[in-house]
Amino acid sequence: MSLIFCSRTDDPDEWRAEFAEVMPDLEFRVWPDVGAPEEVEIALVWDPMQEQLLRFPNLKLIASLGAGVDHLLAATTLPDGVPMTRFVDDNLTQGMCEWVLLYTLYCHRRVPEYLAYQQVQDWHRLTAPFSYERRVGMMGLGILGEASAKALQDIGFQVSGWSRRGKKLPGVESFAGPEQLDEFLSSSEILVCLLPLTPDTEGIIDSRTLNALPPGACFINGARGGLVVEADLIAALESGRLGHAVLDVTREEPLPVDDPLWRAPNITITPHIASITNAGSGARLVAANIRRLRAGEALHYIVDPDAGY
Ligand code: NDP
Ligand code: OXD
Repeated sequence: MSLIFCSRTDDPDEWRAEFAEVMPDLEFRVWPDVGAPEEVEIALVWDPMQEQLLRFPNLKLIASLGAGVDHLLAATTLPDGVPMTRFVDDNLTQGMCEWVLLYTLYCHRRVPEYLAYQQVQDWHRLTAPFSYERRVGMMGLGILGEASAKALQDIGFQVSGWSRRGKKLPGVESFAGPEQLDEFLSSSEILVCLLPLTPDTEGIIDSRTLNALPPGACFINGARGGLVVEADLIAALESGRLGHAVLDVTREEPLPVDDPLWRAPNITITPHIASITNAGSGARLVAANIRRLRAGEALHYIVDPDAGY
């Protein structure tokens, strides 16, 4: 059995070494050295593949190197009947929980304002409510949203959540679907977005959504840039309607040097590092799914191409 690896952002040598340990009988090939296409049964991919996957007549599994599969679904022709799985890993979840906690506390304790005062040598004390008085809204209660909501609850925040089908989590007020979106937003003083990018969620953070937040609310996006109408976000920051935005993701990545987001007021940008795929644990998870495939068992973390996540 051979695997083809295709990613410009992940190091193939690292993944090859991990697979050699966990699945020594798997032949590891790196794009574009595909060898005999009929021998390739697994594709492990981050980069969009256009129609290239159709070259492998015996492909049995497309394993995404990312938790988000929007770019693959949008720019890859999937061979009929071949399942796609996405990346779900405790290390990835831990990384996202850390990033969400870090920037929620950063907004909650008004760090951006202290950084600005420091620039002008102003010893200026501000007040902040206790975490148990602060209402944080989590958009998306999947693997990453649920774990991040729990981490926020653990340090006292009042957390509510919004998802497609509605998810009951202890102590989290749950909202579902477009009809409950405004009610959810109206109590989100800090809004954290961990939604997948799908046809339903594209551009969901626009002037209408931002206006439904409490005045001066903060917005934290750890998911995908395509969820945000960036001109509307900039306008909300410029008017002061939105207090601060933290973006790990943008529509165009890397964010071009002349993009207006860089110079918007009250914005913090990190370069898509909220959580990064780890080859050590990742290879073990993908190998576990390959073993399930070989044994004819149900695969874990299958993507529903119709739902888009
Ligand atoms: P999941 O698929 O586990 O969860 C998705 C959640 O979003 C679910 O709760 C789902 O609802 C909800 N959802 C989907 N569509 C809608 C909709 N139309 N309306 C309301 N809710 C919706 O995803 P993960 O938690 O694993 O990952 C979330 C995203 O995080 C990824 O898609 C990826 O883009 C991003 N990501 C970013 C990283 C970074 O470094 N910046 C790293 C890893 C991931 P329901 O529960 O009803 O299905
Ligand atoms: C992912 C990502 O989707 O890194 O895993 O953004």
